[in-house]
Amino acid sequence: MKAVVVTALGGPEVLQWEERPRPDVGPRDVLIRVMATSVNFADIKAREGRYHGASLPPFIPGLDAAGTVEQVGSQVTGLAPGMRVIAFPSGGSYAEWVVAPDALVFPIPDSVDWDVAAALPIVGLTAYKLLHDIARMESGERVLIHAAAGGIGTTAIQFARLMGAAQIIGTVSREEKKAIARSLGADAVINYAEEQDFSAVVNELTEGRGVDVVLDSIGGTVSEQSLTCLAPFGRLVHFGSASGQPGQFRVGDLHASCRAVLGFSLGTARAQRPYLLKPAADAVLDAVATGGVSMQIGARYPLREAAAAHRWMESRASTGKIILQVG
Ligand SMILES: NC(=O)c1ccc[n+]([C@@H]2O[C@H](COP(=O)([O-])OP(=O)(O)OC[C@H]3O[C@@H](n4cnc5c(N)ncnc54)[C@H](OP(=O)(O)O)[C@@H]3O)[C@@H](O)[C@H]2O)c1
Repeated sequence: MKAVVVTALGGPEVLQWEERPRPDVGPRDVLIRVMATSVNFADIKAREGRYHGASLPPFIPGLDAAGTVEQVGSQVTGLAPGMRVIAFPSGGSYAEWVVAPDALVFPIPDSVDWDVAAALPIVGLTAYKLLHDIARMESGERVLIHAAAGGIGTTAIQFARLMGAAQIIGTVSREEKKAIARSLGADAVINYAEEQDFSAVVNELTEGRGVDVVLDSIGGTVSEQSLTCLAPFGRLVHFGSASGQPGQFRVGDLHASCRAVLGFSLGTARAQRPYLLKPAADAVLDAVATGGVSMQIGARYPLREAAAAHRWMESRASTGKIILQVG
């Protein structure tokens, strides 16, 4: 089969279009003909050798896929050849064929097209779990979402709105990215590349109350500043370090204010508690199929042009999801 391979750690140029063997199917595996996959920020970190759990080169990158079941292992029940599914494959998804454990394969309705299906597994389930299960967001709460125009950001805004957020504030690094966050339901969007202290603006926008939930995928000073606009009883969920910088918190800033800093990784959940994903997948597929959440697809590339797709995400100009079309 054809696949995009990370041939060495480095920039987008290390992504090469190569012939690779089709993966073997174990008793609990599902073989899927991939129709589309997506670029996740973790793919860039993996390519650079900075993603926890990533392999050493050569490896096929990619975390999620949409396609048709071709074959199921001897112990698989409930899935059959011909079904349209989304999946979290065992190997990389930048390939014509993938295998995934049956617990990480979810049938999709016919109304969901391939590009939308490929857009939703990582960002849909992560955004939903962050708000619903980790932050335990309640109706009427205020939410701050960093990188609000990106894949996670555009999806999380919509889930926060569906879950009854009273106020949603986003951050972006470019003026032109404000519009998409606003169009999806953000009440205010701050350009944190220009604003010296975005948390002061958040405090103004919330009339001094601060926000109840922060979704922080940035790290460094953005994480640290976020704590200064987190309300009493608020929850900051740290789930990515796009800045490449660690942030520092003081435990003394937490207990008296009843605030919490939480962490989440869908990768760790997939590896260690895969059973947590099914309820989230059901909720996300339902929200997408019924129109409550509309996956934002900002760009499409043929799979073999994955390097260009990575460059686009790394430029920080991309919005929504970047799809790699395979089938
Ligand atoms: N824990 C999990 O399970 C999990 C799952 C999925 C994603 N994530 C994390 O969530 C974040 C978003 O992922 P995504 O795939 O949806 O990507 P994305 O948001 O579509 O793209 C990444 C965005 O991060 C922002 N960013 C901030 N600092 C950056 C930097 N130094 N270099 C590049 N980008 C930077 C950029 O937006 P602005 O320039 O507007 O800030 C950029 O558009 C990533 O940090 C990712 O690792 C975590």
